[in-house]
Amino acid sequence: MKNTFKNEFKIGAALNTAQIEERDSKMTALIMQQFNALTPENVMKSEVIHPAWDTYDFTVADKLVAFAQKNKMELNGHTLIWHSQLSPFARKINSVDSFRTFFTNHIKTIASRYDGKIFSWDVVNEALNEDGTMRKSVFLEKLGEDYVIEAFRLAQQAAPNTELYYNDYNNEQPAKRNGCIQLIKKIQAAGVRIDGVGIQGHWHVGKVPLKEIEESIEAYDALGLKVMFTELDIEVLPRNFQGADVNQRMATDPSLNPYVNGIPANVLAQQAKDYENLFRLFLKHKDKVTRVTLWGVDDGQSWLNDWPVRGRTNYPLLFDRTLTPKPAFEAVLSLKN
Ligand code: XIL
Repeated sequence: MKNTFKNEFKIGAALNTAQIEERDSKMTALIMQQFNALTPENVMKSEVIHPAWDTYDFTVADKLVAFAQKNKMELNGHTLIWHSQLSPFARKINSVDSFRTFFTNHIKTIASRYDGKIFSWDVVNEALNEDGTMRKSVFLEKLGEDYVIEAFRLAQQAAPNTELYYNDYNNEQPAKRNGCIQLIKKIQAAGVRIDGVGIQGHWHVGKVPLKEIEESIEAYDALGLKVMFTELDIEVLPRNFQGADVNQRMATDPSLNPYVNGIPANVLAQQAKDYENLFRLFLKHKDKVTRVTLWGVDDGQSWLNDWPVRGRTNYPLLFDRTLTPKPAFEAVLSLKN
């Protein structure tokens, strides 16, 4: 994939700890063969990298940085400021002053450590509600609306050589997109650098919102920003809401897990069509889209096996559980052949 699209955009994957530590040589070979961009699935999130006020744990994050450097892959840091997977100690800070100190130290310490070593940061993740207003996160409550500007300002100071992005899900949908545009304009009006916007891209088979995606690519490009698809997957199992709020869950029920023993060919064919249509759109806007990152390498790794319902068998990615390319993989490649 990385060679097929080398003149258009980077092709990325999110890696978990086992992949970063190269525990399975077949997996490592596949990663090196297919991808030229990487994102840590979890190891740079607050709860892992900053477990206590004065404690940082860079062990696995450093390994990923070394792996990306060795293989000349573009690494996207994910993520500095996010309300989910936030260290429990941070949630318990009461005073506004102490919270601001935590916020400042967190960004400065992590962003400066990797400046010049990684390509980019998702500085802020998921600050918006579906209607485009600001999410009532602990950051908003403690620091007020301008915390997003502050986060980018601190990141800019600590990481002058790193691209800085805002990342969210459903920010291709009109109302949330408008909120996202307003937020970006506020950052720009404050004279603070923002280089790009990430659309996560957690979509559902047969329901990929191509029109809204195209409108969003154009709208974000018009703000002078790079556009990235940062967490792409197309899931096949039922659920009753859209989006990717990791705190939203559904109860387990066998009817919600229909493909335990295999997925019907017609569903795989529809998924292939969806991926093909998406990549056709990305190619049409190759002057605006700089990276397309899959949220994982193979179906067995996907977070969608455990979210929003635990213990399901999902099939959202381009490689199956044996690391064999799926019809969607062939469909995407066929666009260039
Ligand atoms: C997910 C990871 O894939 C899971 O392993 C973890 O348990 C929860 O988070 N949006 C994001 C990602 O920005 O960080 C989330 O990743 C998926 C939704």
